[in-house]
Amino acid sequence: MKVRDAILGLKLYQAGKPIDEVKRELGLDDIIKLASNENPLGCSTKVCDVIKEFADKVNLYPDASNYELKKALSKYLGVNVENIFCSTGSDSLIKAICNLFVNDGDETIMGEVSFQRYEDSTVLMGGKIVKVPMKNYMLDVKGMVDAINDRTRVLWFCTPNNPTGSIINKDELFSVLDLIPKDVIIVMDEAYYEYVTDDNYPQTVPLLEKYDNMIILRTFSKAYGLAGLRCGYGIASEEIAKYINTIVGPFDTNIIAQQAAVAALSDTEFLKRVIDENSRGREYLYCEYKRLGLEYIESQANFIMVNVKRNDKEVFNELLKRGIIVRPGYLFGMDGWLRVSIGTMEQNKKYIKELENILVNK
Ligand SMILES: Cc1ncc(COP(=O)(O)O)c(C=O)c1O
Repeated sequence: MKVRDAILGLKLYQAGKPIDEVKRELGLDDIIKLASNENPLGCSTKVCDVIKEFADKVNLYPDASNYELKKALSKYLGVNVENIFCSTGSDSLIKAICNLFVNDGDETIMGEVSFQRYEDSTVLMGGKIVKVPMKNYMLDVKGMVDAINDRTRVLWFCTPNNPTGSIINKDELFSVLDLIPKDVIIVMDEAYYEYVTDDNYPQTVPLLEKYDNMIILRTFSKAYGLAGLRCGYGIASEEIAKYINTIVGPFDTNIIAQQAAVAALSDTEFLKRVIDENSRGREYLYCEYKRLGLEYIESQANFIMVNVKRNDKEVFNELLKRGIIVRPGYLFGMDGWLRVSIGTMEQNKKYIKELENILVNK
């Protein structure tokens, strides 16, 4: 079989362990999953209603234009529908961006510890990923801009950054934007946008007027709790949006996801509860980590990186045996660390209790 050379360079994405798999493997009933930055509060009841309502319409193809969803997003964001594109999660939009801009041998630039799918999608197109070392666990924004050369096509600004949870603040962003050549695409991956509470976080939608080489990516998978339905969107110039719309499959955003996303956007009360619970959980975990003498990275997202100062694979396995799934840091090149999603308060407490048992008993 002859596959494209670029495919040979791809690694299989290692997702968080699914709950049912852990149940099967360890014979446990009660599992807490804090591994994939999912929403522990589920989703809005308005979403559940819509899912039931559309259950008997799945014999129909979805609306290829995403009319209702784009209309709702346009109102929410204050941009024209022509500036919006949707697909099965922002993951597939990352791939579409590479389909659009990366030729064989082109480069894209990401932070050394950032979202792996930037690398996969670049490599898939025969491109080369350039990883810029982190500065104090944050993206080195200036360093990333300094790494631009004639082959650079895309800069991946992940903010809040997965897995470190740090943001690019206003000053940092504004100090580099005019240094970036117009033919380099700036991707603001804002998958965790809704969770941010720091006033120094820049609002990027108004920047699109000046920077037509900027693309903003958002998702319904995180704060809106629709990870299993697969729906993400992007905002960019009309020209970029038009191209991306020709690349993504016409029916990629399924009929239920489109309606569910509209319902999710309308439930601002649910979103507020999610954000408040997350902020409360974040503060609780900071306090507990301090009590346990563990270093952590301040996060603006729904997960925190914590340095357990032990073999992270071992601590991951010990937590797993106790029914708690997290992500070991070696997967991100951060040995000795764990990335742990913020759960409900009950889940957070159980996790801390088990973590303390493991660390004290070693
Ligand atoms: C930074 C970042 N971007 C994009 C995604 C993709 O999310 P989705 O495809 O579910 O929209 C994720 C998922 O974890 C992420 O962490």
